[in-house]
Amino acid sequence: MPKDSKNDSRTNSQAGTERARPILHQNAREIQPYGKIAKLPIALDESTCAQSVENLNQVLADTITLRDLYKKHHWQVAGHTFYQIHLLFDKHYEEQNELVDTIAERIQSLGGISLAMAADVAETTIIPRPPRGREEVPVQISRLLEAHEFLLKEARTMAKQASESGDDGTNDLLVSDVIRTNELQVWFLAEHLVDVPLVRADAPAAEKEPAKSKSASAR
Ligand SMILES: [Fe+2]
Repeated sequence: MPKDSKNDSRTNSQAGTERARPILHQNAREIQPYGKIAKLPIALDESTCAQSVENLNQVLADTITLRDLYKKHHWQVAGHTFYQIHLLFDKHYEEQNELVDTIAERIQSLGGISLAMAADVAETTIIPRPPRGREEVPVQISRLLEAHEFLLKEARTMAKQASESGDDGTNDLLVSDVIRTNELQVWFLAEHLVDVPLVRADAPAAEKEPAKSKSASAR
């Protein structure tokens, strides 16, 4: 068959499908550059929106990092308490994941752009990078508690700032969602680092007294 007629037959077999075919490999300029506000009619001035967006992107980057730290520890946990800690870490991961979406959508509601990709999050977060390897449970928990405290500290400062600038929605999100969730998770974690006996209670103080002081008190 001559080359041209081969092409013709392919063209004929696709005839009539033009409108159903996907248009691939498209490209265009961004519709909004990162860091700029596309003002929405929410009765807040642009500078207030810009300030809240900047703060929320910091909280977002740190929340994504903390969320992923929970998943890392969920996978890598080891030891006697494996099952309960494995499940607890995943529960907290899911709660942080909910926060991520709430924070990101608040940023978009303010006319801003949410950080999204891992490389951008890694450049922005203030939470120290953990090693790739596995760590003991107490170390995992300590690392998580430190990350929570970074988040709580910045969220409190930013909540105050949002309240002062009249951005009540952002203040409410930071207080009711971010701060309360993080505080509760800190409690659940920190109680695992209290060194209490597992099976046999500590002997009462009187029984523990050394023989010397016993005879001294008898005198
Ligand atoms: Fe899992």
